[in-house]
Amino acid sequence: MKGVLVSATLKLDEVFRSAFAAEDASVELLMPEEVDDPATIDFALAWRPPQGVLKRYPNLKVICSIAAGVDNILADPELPDVPVVRMVDPEQAEAMALFVIWHVIWYQRRFDLYLEQQEAQVWRRQPQRSATDTTVAVLGLGRMGSVTAQRLAGLGYPTLGWARSPRTLEGVEVVSGGEGLETLLARADVVINLLPLTAETRGLLDGALFARMKPGAYLIQMGRGPHLVERDLLAAVDSGHLAGASLDVFEQEPLPPGHTFWTHPRILVTPHCASDATADLVAVQTLAAARAALAGTEIPNGVNKTDGY
Ligand code: GLV
Repeated sequence: MKGVLVSATLKLDEVFRSAFAAEDASVELLMPEEVDDPATIDFALAWRPPQGVLKRYPNLKVICSIAAGVDNILADPELPDVPVVRMVDPEQAEAMALFVIWHVIWYQRRFDLYLEQQEAQVWRRQPQRSATDTTVAVLGLGRMGSVTAQRLAGLGYPTLGWARSPRTLEGVEVVSGGEGLETLLARADVVINLLPLTAETRGLLDGALFARMKPGAYLIQMGRGPHLVERDLLAAVDSGHLAGASLDVFEQEPLPPGHTFWTHPRILVTPHCASDATADLVAVQTLAAARAALAGTEIPNGVNKTDGY
């Protein structure tokens, strides 16, 4: 089998090459410039593929996202008509949960103030707020969202979750639909976005939503940049309605130098690093998908292109 990595931003490094070699030494995984004959390529591994590049491989059987999300691939208007697969990594979901928990505690225990106080050499104890007094809400109960919600619930945070359709999740109060979202926003001290990016969720985090959040509430945005209307967030934080936000994903990545978020005292910026699927898992799941596609059997972790996840 032969595959190609198609990405505007990633190169095949040693970690990925050796993960694929360890999984199956007979597989060739190449960068586009290393491919002699595009007709020999069976599968593509992709992350933000430049538009129109994937269609250059006429015998492609499957396209695998290197990530949990596939919006980066479905955005190509010239996408070949082959199955698209996402990575499903339990370790990645646990890493996401830990990353989110850190941000929840940052807000709950006012580390923003402690950092300012240290800078000014001020010794002042802030009121201690308990987990049970901090209601958290997770938007999106997919693999990332469910694990994150359950880990937060396990730590004693009253936890709400918003899902597309009603379901049960131990320890988590699940709400759905427009009415469910209203309930959740009215009660949550921390709103955590882990939704997939689809036509329905694009721009969901806007001024209208922030206005329905509790005064002093906090946003943790770990989904995709286009979920958020950036200027609306700035307005909500600058007016004092929201206490602040932690942002890992942005409309434009890398976040451009000089962007207001970089220096905003109530906004924490991280470079889309919350959690990645491991290279070993990417190798195993990509090759399983490619083998299934070649054999004509059911492809594991295929996405519904209409739903977008
Ligand atoms: C990272 O953003 C992912 O979707 O895995």
